[in-house]
Amino acid sequence: MDSVTDDFIIPQDWSSYSAVDHATWDRLFARQQAMLPGRVVPAFLKGLDVLRLSKPGIPDFAELSDRLMHATGWQVVAVPGLVPDDVFYEHLANRRFVAGRTIRRPDQLDYLEEPDVFHDVFGHVPLLTDPVFADYMQAYGEGGRRAASLGAIDKLARLYWYTVEFGLIRDGDATRIFGAGIVSSRSESVFALDDPSPNRIAFDLKRVMRTRYRIDDYQQTYFVIDSFDDLLRQTLDADFGPIYAELDAAEDLDVDRILPGDRLLTRGTQRHARARTARQ
Ligand code: PHE
Ligand code: FE
Repeated sequence: MDSVTDDFIIPQDWSSYSAVDHATWDRLFARQQAMLPGRVVPAFLKGLDVLRLSKPGIPDFAELSDRLMHATGWQVVAVPGLVPDDVFYEHLANRRFVAGRTIRRPDQLDYLEEPDVFHDVFGHVPLLTDPVFADYMQAYGEGGRRAASLGAIDKLARLYWYTVEFGLIRDGDATRIFGAGIVSSRSESVFALDDPSPNRIAFDLKRVMRTRYRIDDYQQTYFVIDSFDDLLRQTLDADFGPIYAELDAAEDLDVDRILPGDRLLTRGTQRHARARTARQ
């Protein structure tokens, strides 16, 4: 690799998974497979198919990478957990998706603080078979290197959060999920689309990069892109240098804030967030 000396890649060591590990994957897979049709962007379901992800057990990254390489030139590599930003960007820029190799315990099916192999692989990898989304992820990695040099990682991270992790997308008259954090969560795949609590706002690049996010609960605002093409065009065509400088002078926006200029698709009641605060 060019600028990073330690790439953090470790062997997946597929043969060391236990029967319980594989059974946990299968349970999570079956739950989401029942939940997602009609909710998730069709390209995701196509990706499951192309990658043969319905095969039982935790996928072998080597086999997965073969199929993915064939589709869009991406690979999946194992890492020990979260990696430093520069390492993460470098991998994405080279069309390598980094994934955790371990799986959650059977008593943690619904909630988990750190991403595991189910989130990383089931959540993220299917859409990497979509040529436009695949290009977006690579461009994001390249953008990350630049953001690091401009001291703007926090702003770029919000773009990742509100698209790659928690993004919604238009599909004709319907809204669908595509963010990996939603797609890999049984309860959020319902909440994000159907619950009256959160705001749903049409995607706007600068607006998103100003918006704080929650890491401890469902999002209070989701942003809705028109299409992967539109997302790629808007981000690739824009020179983020001046945007970062402009946003440095603007205030950050709270998670539930609505602005007069927002194209608001749902005005959330924020009932969920309020009930939770009251309980604490
Ligand atoms: N166009 C962005 C820049 O000038 C790079 C980028 C592309 C960032 C796509 C995210 C996604 O920095
Ligand atoms: Fe993720």
